[in-house]
Amino acid sequence: MSGARRAIYPGSFDPVTFGHMDIIRRAAASFDDVVVAVLRNTNKAPLFSAEERREMLEEAIAEAGLGNVRVSGFEGLLVDFARNVEAKVVLRGLRAVSDFEYELQMALLNRRLAPEVETIFLVPGEDVSFISSRLVREIARLGGDVSSLVPACASARLARRLGAPSGGNE
Ligand code: PNS
Repeated sequence: MSGARRAIYPGSFDPVTFGHMDIIRRAAASFDDVVVAVLRNTNKAPLFSAEERREMLEEAIAEAGLGNVRVSGFEGLLVDFARNVEAKVVLRGLRAVSDFEYELQMALLNRRLAPEVETIFLVPGEDVSFISSRLVREIARLGGDVSSLVPACASARLARRLGAPSGGNE
């Protein structure tokens, strides 16, 4: 495949949320194949290891029945990963104006590094656009129920890691 219709969707996914899954569904419907790219060494000291974050994504994607989506870990520059997998499109979700400044900066820097790679922003459904992994972790840490915010596999792992209720889904 030339990669013209291949998109990568990069992120930390610590953990995957229904917001991410909404973007992945939209991506799968718009591109021939989608590579969800999990940043291995985030400098944010992740709650879940790269392996755990990948497993949660794989379970959630299998459950959603998205056959043209695969998950891969990456380290180093995003544009190098895009070139390695022959993707010409980087997808990012844009939830609110507050995301815009950082996303614009990344898109323009990535373009400077790799002009052939286009960043495309997808807008999540308004029912999930307020969800962030950071706040999910905080809610779970404080004992709140996150089962309406993340896939069942993630809420079960959060419960095991942090002792939060899993919502009885798994
Ligand atoms: O889910 P996140 O944490 O907002 O995702 C950020 C991510 C993984 C897209 C970004 O940190 C990234 O691309 N990291 C790889 C290193 C890189 O290429 N940095 C230069 C970006 S201009």
